[in-house]
Amino acid sequence: MDKKLLFLDCDPGVDDAVAILLALASPEAEVVGVSAVGGNVPLERTLRNALDIVAFAGRPDLPVYPGAKMPMTGALITAEDFHGTDGLGGVPIPQSTAQPQAEMAWDAIHRLAKANPGLLTVVATGPLTNLGIALTKWPDLAGLLKEIVIMGGASAYGNTTPAAEFNFLADPEGAEAVFQSGASITVLPLDVTHKCYVNCEEIAQLRSQATPQANFAAEMMDGGRVEQCEQWFGVSGSIMHDPAAALYALHPQLFTAKTCWVGVETGGVHSRGKMVTDAFTDASLTANCRLCYDVDRAGFVSALLSLMERY
Ligand code: BDR
Ligand code: CA
Repeated sequence: MDKKLLFLDCDPGVDDAVAILLALASPEAEVVGVSAVGGNVPLERTLRNALDIVAFAGRPDLPVYPGAKMPMTGALITAEDFHGTDGLGGVPIPQSTAQPQAEMAWDAIHRLAKANPGLLTVVATGPLTNLGIALTKWPDLAGLLKEIVIMGGASAYGNTTPAAEFNFLADPEGAEAVFQSGASITVLPLDVTHKCYVNCEEIAQLRSQATPQANFAAEMMDGGRVEQCEQWFGVSGSIMHDPAAALYALHPQLFTAKTCWVGVETGGVHSRGKMVTDAFTDASLTANCRLCYDVDRAGFVSALLSLMERY
């Protein structure tokens, strides 16, 4: 079986951390690199977290690349209210001695895509600054990648402003550059990730695996976040946005998608960062992505638990 070649571009982040653990546990994937971007917490922290998480997953050798500290335009937006000041919800993780690569994320993604034409999938679970820079700097990159799987956006509402989801609000210019790049894209917006939750009973099942990695993931899902998800979004469990993107890359059959045009609002008084879709092809815009809108939640939770059981 040929393994799926994955590169993870992320801003860990409690759900990014779980996504990394899942991808690194999969026998069907070969993760060839991880990059960090400033997002849920500043870059210094997301980079450190990425290094610690890959080591915790048993891959201290895996190259981790630094990315952008700031979005393409404007100020850094963070989400410590949900992820804590350490980005991992205050859940302790062993400190790795590994250091980041000197090469920047956008150059590493291009180099790896060029070495593996048509084979590399980038799973992007943070603001899209690194990929926006990569696709702008390297015009051949869009055609070299197999796919970009993005967690971001929402078709009808936001989680950070009334209109915008966090990753797209944090860098609308980066996101728009990615969507209009011509790359093959799948996007998982809040419409589907809010269905990718792990309830209290399932968190208990994860905890009962009793490995350090399962305990770490369960602690991050729990720790007040179940209540937050219920109060803020009316979802009955810990929402696993970024694991949804990782599991799409591994098991796309769990998800339902339609093909359509997507753009990201870069102006707007109330709507900066909003995902704009031509989901019903009203404007007959040429489709530029697959837009996921549904998931087999039982299958999603079962895949998450089975992958975590491999630790
Ligand atoms: C996204 O924003 C971040 O806070 C999460 O890690 C996820 O990538 C959800 O809106
Ligand atoms: Ca994230």
